[in-house]
Amino acid sequence: MTRRRLAVLISGRGSNLQAIADACKNGKIPDCDVTGVISSRPDAPGLDWSRKQGIFARSLSHRDFSGREQFDSALALAIDRLEPDWIALAGFMRQLTPGFVEHYLGRLVNIHPSLLPSFPGLHTHRHAIEAGVCWHGATVHFVTAELDAGPIIAQGVLPVAPDDSADSLAQKVLALEHRLYPEALSWLVTGQVTFRENHSHWTYPPPLSRTGPMINPEVRIP
Ligand code: GRF
Repeated sequence: MTRRRLAVLISGRGSNLQAIADACKNGKIPDCDVTGVISSRPDAPGLDWSRKQGIFARSLSHRDFSGREQFDSALALAIDRLEPDWIALAGFMRQLTPGFVEHYLGRLVNIHPSLLPSFPGLHTHRHAIEAGVCWHGATVHFVTAELDAGPIIAQGVLPVAPDDSADSLAQKVLALEHRLYPEALSWLVTGQVTFRENHSHWTYPPPLSRTGPMINPEVRIP
């Protein structure tokens, strides 16, 4: 079988990228390889990590372009050179133009560190603490033109402890993201979920993992 090709877009640390690449290597995302990484920042630690793994990695800075459209055109060229089946945004800190999103509709996914539609945008963990929510988590979704609002593929949820700070919550959510994103990508590359008429469409009966689309970590109730 032809192996599927995944491009990952990052801007920094790249811990989700690592979780995805590991899941490809150990078969949790079946018959799939991360065939290229593009960073919007030249100093992103995820670039070095990728190169050390032998994964093609390059940066493309918006500073080298006169506007959003120009940057997104260059980005699309760079992505298309990788000939990916899917494109995963993993901490990619750029808002994409509607034309770019349309070009990759159904093949472009993102992970966002909140239970969307709550807390789109930045500083999600701080906002969750301030709002006093009992549950927080992460969402993998198809990317559409509206920021952090595309059809949901998977969500992971965890309880907010009374003594949680934005930082402690961020750490817990990040660990959850590292399980959630590979799992959601495995559903995508195996065709268990597709983008159809602006919704996530599931094949039925859904041959999902036993945890289903909601990944609940072990919740200990005292
Ligand atoms: C993650 O929390 C992701 O959800 C958000 O940015 C962070 C990226 O972390 N969009 P990393 O670069 O994958 O470590």
